[in-house]
Amino acid sequence: MRAHPAGPLHGSIAPPPAVGAAPADLGELDRHVWPRTAERIGGELHLGGRPVTDLARAHGTPLFVLDEADFRGRAAEFATAFAGADVHYASKAFLCGQVARWVAEDGLHLDACSGNELAIALAAGFPAERIALHGNNKSLVELRLAVDAGIGHVVLDSFDEIDRLVPLAAARLAAGGGPVPVLIRSTVGIEAHTHEFIATAHEDQKFGFSLATGDALTAAVRVIREPALHLAGLHSHIGSQIFDTAGFEAAAHRVVGLLGQVHQATGELLEELNLGGGFGIAYLSEDDPVSPHDVAERLRAVVAAECAQLGLPVPRLAVEPGRAIAGPGTVTLYEIGTIKPVRLGSSGTPGAPLVRNYVSVDGGMSDNIRTALYDASYTCVLANRTSDAPPALCRVVGKHCESGDVLVRDLWLPSDVQPGDLLAVAATGAYCWSMASNYNYLLKPPVVAVRDGEAIEVVRRQTLADVFALDAVLADVPAPSPAIDQPAPEHAAGARS
Ligand code: LLP
Repeated sequence: MRAHPAGPLHGSIAPPPAVGAAPADLGELDRHVWPRTAERIGGELHLGGRPVTDLARAHGTPLFVLDEADFRGRAAEFATAFAGADVHYASKAFLCGQVARWVAEDGLHLDACSGNELAIALAAGFPAERIALHGNNKSLVELRLAVDAGIGHVVLDSFDEIDRLVPLAAARLAAGGGPVPVLIRSTVGIEAHTHEFIATAHEDQKFGFSLATGDALTAAVRVIREPALHLAGLHSHIGSQIFDTAGFEAAAHRVVGLLGQVHQATGELLEELNLGGGFGIAYLSEDDPVSPHDVAERLRAVVAAECAQLGLPVPRLAVEPGRAIAGPGTVTLYEIGTIKPVRLGSSGTPGAPLVRNYVSVDGGMSDNIRTALYDASYTCVLANRTSDAPPALCRVVGKHCESGDVLVRDLWLPSDVQPGDLLAVAATGAYCWSMASNYNYLLKPPVVAVRDGEAIEVVRRQTLADVFALDAVLADVPAPSPAIDQPAPEHAAGARS
């Protein structure tokens, strides 16, 4: 689908509601979708043992609430399922100092895809040797940071990048350091999405070295001959939010084939095969992701079979889950401001027009761009209370000046939701805060980690003063405090509530 740039209402007639029958219990928390510690106590949603009304009062809304036990539990499940392999947390999904520390303490590796993600992980004390740096356009500065820090792998993405890295690596070698360990990112011609994978024509994108054209092999041979670099292995990543292991299996087949080609051409047996991330999560009850255990089993079996066929030793495996670790454990809390019933036409019952309630909340596409950008589906519940009121067809929208500013396109909420109620949107831990913007000068929400009844603000709310500070004219003008429309956080970052 290609969205109209000004939003669906500008592009065409609004589509009819794509929502099934209302569930019997509108306040139900499907275990499949909600964080592991989510529960209703006295009707109110609790996360990590904390009532959402307390969290909203202490930290304001919109608010990302991160269930530490869920995040770390999922990380641990990947580590166990892939024992003997390396699990890199793909930090683009969500990164802050606290998350970097959890991931480090729990023994995982970390994938950074920019110099700043790398700098944040290093500043939080993440062991450099467990970090891999990705990126299709790494700058000299980013590469220098990686080399100086002594990170685990630079994942090479282009011939230009090899040219940029070699002098830095040679200088390190001359100064008595070891060769820089690298992987070659190969584009295996497969792009996988949700339920299908397509194995042709996906060479036409910016990442990696093409396997089909021979560039991946050429790059590997070149790196092997370069004394300042050490080619530790190969990398492939085929997409994101994938529910089916068939695409990974096809990719593994091809990338093991490349291992064989490299061996034939140079006699080198590469020690590592990184199959990237992309494991899907449940945003809705009907989504059916594969467990880390099943993914690990399938990938191990395919790689072992391919290697046996080519007479190669099985390399050490690595994977890079981001969404599957960070996504399910976070919810976004919003306060409802305005509710507008919009008549859509006839419901078929005389005298009962089809109405959709536009429920406006105090955030929107600046804290979750995924619905507008990818037509992503989310679910949400009334969080501060339950209600026996009959279901009403709703669309949860933000407060941005744009009709495409939709958070949850179609869902049923109790018909008595009202301004001041709290809504909780599930599974917003990946690619929401990390893709947040200041559109319309809304401010980035804080992130509060909850565990065993304790709440710690791990990222504070951005303030208008932060924004003024960037502006040449406003830098010295005192910003109104609290910022307009944003509750003043009573707690600084790191504070407990
Ligand atoms: N490794 C590499 C090389 C990647 O490019 C990515 C994601 C991952 C690992 C982690 O993928 P995950 O396990 O999180 O699916 N903004 C989009 C997703 C972009 C993914 C980019 N690369 C979204 O909101 O759906």
